[in-house]
Amino acid sequence: MNAAFEGFLAQQVADLKASGLYWTRRQLQGPSQPRARVDGKQVLLLAANNYLGLSNHPKVKAAAVAAVKKYGAGSGSVPAIAGTMDLHIKLDRQIAKFKHTNSAIYFQTGFAANAGLLPAILAEGDLVISDQLNHGSIIDGIRLSKAEKAVYQHNDVADLERVLKENASKNFKRTFIVTDGVFSMDGDIAPLPGIVKLAEQFNCITYVDDAHGDGVLGPQGRGVTHHFGLTGKIDVEVGTFSKAFGVMGGYACGSQAVCEYAYNKSRSWLLSGSAPPATVAACTAALQVLERDKKIVPRLWKNTEFFRKGLQQLGFDTGKSQTPIIPVMLGDSNRAQEFSRELFKEGVFGVPIVFPMVAKDKARIRTQMNAAFTQKDLNQALAVFEKVGKRLKVL
Ligand SMILES: Cc1ncc(COP(=O)(O)O)c(C=O)c1O
Repeated sequence: MNAAFEGFLAQQVADLKASGLYWTRRQLQGPSQPRARVDGKQVLLLAANNYLGLSNHPKVKAAAVAAVKKYGAGSGSVPAIAGTMDLHIKLDRQIAKFKHTNSAIYFQTGFAANAGLLPAILAEGDLVISDQLNHGSIIDGIRLSKAEKAVYQHNDVADLERVLKENASKNFKRTFIVTDGVFSMDGDIAPLPGIVKLAEQFNCITYVDDAHGDGVLGPQGRGVTHHFGLTGKIDVEVGTFSKAFGVMGGYACGSQAVCEYAYNKSRSWLLSGSAPPATVAACTAALQVLERDKKIVPRLWKNTEFFRKGLQQLGFDTGKSQTPIIPVMLGDSNRAQEFSRELFKEGVFGVPIVFPMVAKDKARIRTQMNAAFTQKDLNQALAVFEKVGKRLKVL
């Protein structure tokens, strides 16, 4: 053991604790659902990505169990060698059908999709222009590439145009514009119509990660491109099954060429074991539930509007939220940590989001809505927020 290295790490952890940036994990002792058991306590769970409650849906669970019985616990290989089962192919097709694209390819995670695909499609001599607040997996994917990088101000189409104009005469081989569809920390939506217009004007390739838009935005929850009526206008769409679908896994979709290239060139897909049968079958079942249940997405939105309005009426700042991601802006990291602890004492699990997930002075409690909350749940949660807000003099 290297003592200096151990000492360095211990000091870093101590610094994180001192500055309110240390992550303490809470334990769920049962399913992720509106009233969940966490650290031995029954709480309202306002911190899950499981927007539609599908992680605990009977059909989704049954599909996972049936797949284990028929196919076993693991896939046995990486997808390119012997790890592609008929289940994986079925899921690819189901994703393409859901997104209305020609083709789709399922990745192990959304992180793996961005971290593997971006370096594969971005080449030396290309320019990639990325929204300032894009997800870390996009940032890392871009870092792994040899393309020239530029950043535009968050959701600012005019600033994107400025970057495009500044680079127009530099003879880049290709220019990519990359954005989240819904931003995971603020819950605001990318201005895709303006981005697509500029992409057409400047002959760019568009790449959109709709991790938090799938199952949430657009008719039947088909995502941000459908929300804006831009189906077929985005070159590469990426998403995940770890949010509204309540399972796990990522995907890329688009043309046949995009997907064939993706699975021949993405190192995260080529060099990492494929998802286990239970996961893949659960993802397929989650998509089927969403396709068939016409009420689930409207329920999510009804809860979202009610809860956001309720927080605002109490006097909380919900930032730029336009979606079921509803932050309660608090500023200081220690304050956000304390607020979260007080919420928990009162029976509400709302997670503090602090640096490096957000800027140091933009700490918050990020709440996330769920279609499965009842009116009683939401009223109770609002009452707790009010109590804690007053106790900590936020209100
Ligand atoms: C925009 C975005 N992309 C990708 C991911 C990663 O997805 P996954 O959980 O499937 O790795 C996330 C999750 O936080 C996300 O918010």
